[in-house]
Amino acid sequence: MHHFQAFRVLYFLLAYLSPVRCAKAPNPALTPLNYGAFTQTATYSIANQLGFFTANGLNVTFLQIPNSPAGYAALLNGQYDILTGTIDNTVNFRFNQQKALSVLGQLDQGPDLVIASVHSVASVQDLRGKTIMVDNATSGYAYLLRKILSLFGLVLGTDYTFQVVGATPLRYQYLINGTTPDGTPAYATILTYPFTAEGEALPADTRPNILARASDFVNPFSSSAFTATTASITDGIKGPLITKFLTAMLEANQYLAAPKHKSCAIGAIAAQLNISTAVATAEYAAATDPETGETALMQGGIFNVSRQGLLNVIDLRAQFGGFTGVPAGFNFADAIVPGPGKLIDYTLRDQAVQAAAEGKVKIKGDC
Ligand SMILES: *[C@@H]1O[C@H](CO)[C@@H](O)[C@H](O)[C@H]1NC(C)=O
Ligand SMILES: *[C@@H]1O[C@H](CO)[C@@H](O)[C@H](O)[C@H]1NC(C)=O
Ligand SMILES: *[C@@H]1O[C@H](CO)[C@@H](O)[C@H](O)[C@H]1NC(C)=O
Ligand SMILES: *[C@@H]1O[C@H](CO)[C@@H](O)[C@H](O)[C@H]1NC(C)=O
Ligand SMILES: *[C@@H]1O[C@H](CO)[C@@H](O)[C@H](O)[C@H]1NC(C)=O
Repeated sequence: MHHFQAFRVLYFLLAYLSPVRCAKAPNPALTPLNYGAFTQTATYSIANQLGFFTANGLNVTFLQIPNSPAGYAALLNGQYDILTGTIDNTVNFRFNQQKALSVLGQLDQGPDLVIASVHSVASVQDLRGKTIMVDNATSGYAYLLRKILSLFGLVLGTDYTFQVVGATPLRYQYLINGTTPDGTPAYATILTYPFTAEGEALPADTRPNILARASDFVNPFSSSAFTATTASITDGIKGPLITKFLTAMLEANQYLAAPKHKSCAIGAIAAQLNISTAVATAEYAAATDPETGETALMQGGIFNVSRQGLLNVIDLRAQFGGFTGVPAGFNFADAIVPGPGKLIDYTLRDQAVQAAAEGKVKIKGDC
């Protein structure tokens, strides 16, 4: 190597590594917050990559949820300050098990939520006699899967079975590989953002087939929701901390929604997920879909829970006997009305909307 080249390499390393080292030094001005999530959403990618968390004084640690029981246990025991997970989980824990969890707002309506399969399974009918990978056999996505398959005439236990393997990142990995950890073949599963678009970019021999899009059958469908313990909402320390997180996510969500930020948003998604610009562009399209995305119209730009989307979630669970812990005569209509301490509690969301409107953090026009 010429000296000149060696010097350039050295210069590059110094220039590249120094800011990274600085960025990693603990900043005492930032308050730590533990965030549990199943996937890295577009809103999270923007908040993390473009500095919305740090601008709100937060050092957010992203904690990957391995499966829903583990994720909600971690929230209940304080390991997570907040999580995003399918709203059906909170409906279940709250109504069946009387767990004091509340939904603070809705993040999406199931972007790119599909039934995907390996190559040899070319249609829904090909699922007869097969096993389908799920996170949990009695959770929202499993009920959605059952609903869609039932419309094709397929019945769980008769025409197909479930194999419980874990959250979407794991199921995607097993689907692409064609096997589950115990060595049995993988055939199909539910996929969501960002895995659906990542799968569509794979070479033909490993690219999953999309057998059905959930929104063609159940729409609207409330999916990812900001969830915390009900006690934390009124806690003098946790409450304001969570409000800062919601403020950063709200600002990032508004950034995502603004067409003028499209290329910067795509850049943030690409950087966060370590994917090409082409795939990130497909992710952006899914995340900004007006029916299913993170900027779904029903959310009103302020993380509103879609009443109809939530009713559809409850309807699916009810259809498949998922309310065994709910007393006869339970008033669902009343139980889904937002209010302090209830299933949906907008207290902290409202504070975040206020903070974002006051513009304490300048949304960058550029990236
Ligand atoms: C964020 O917290 C982690 C520990 O959880 C720490 O290692 C890191 O340095 C902190 N980052 C900043 C910028 O303070
Ligand atoms: C499925 O979730 C329920 C709680 O909703 C839990 O009790 C059960 O253990 C879970 N099943 C598996 C196999 O994880
Ligand atoms: C992928 O599949 C092979 C067999 O085809 C198996 O040996 C390996 O353990 C699998 N890897 C994962 C991560 O599932
Ligand atoms: C990003 O993806 C590339 C391949 O596309 C891979 O070589 C690299 O290790 C990945 N980087 C990280 C940090 O995961
Ligand atoms: C969102 O909720 C607020 C009240 O919290 C309401 O005023 C607004 O109309 C809602 N937006 C949509 C699109 O439903």
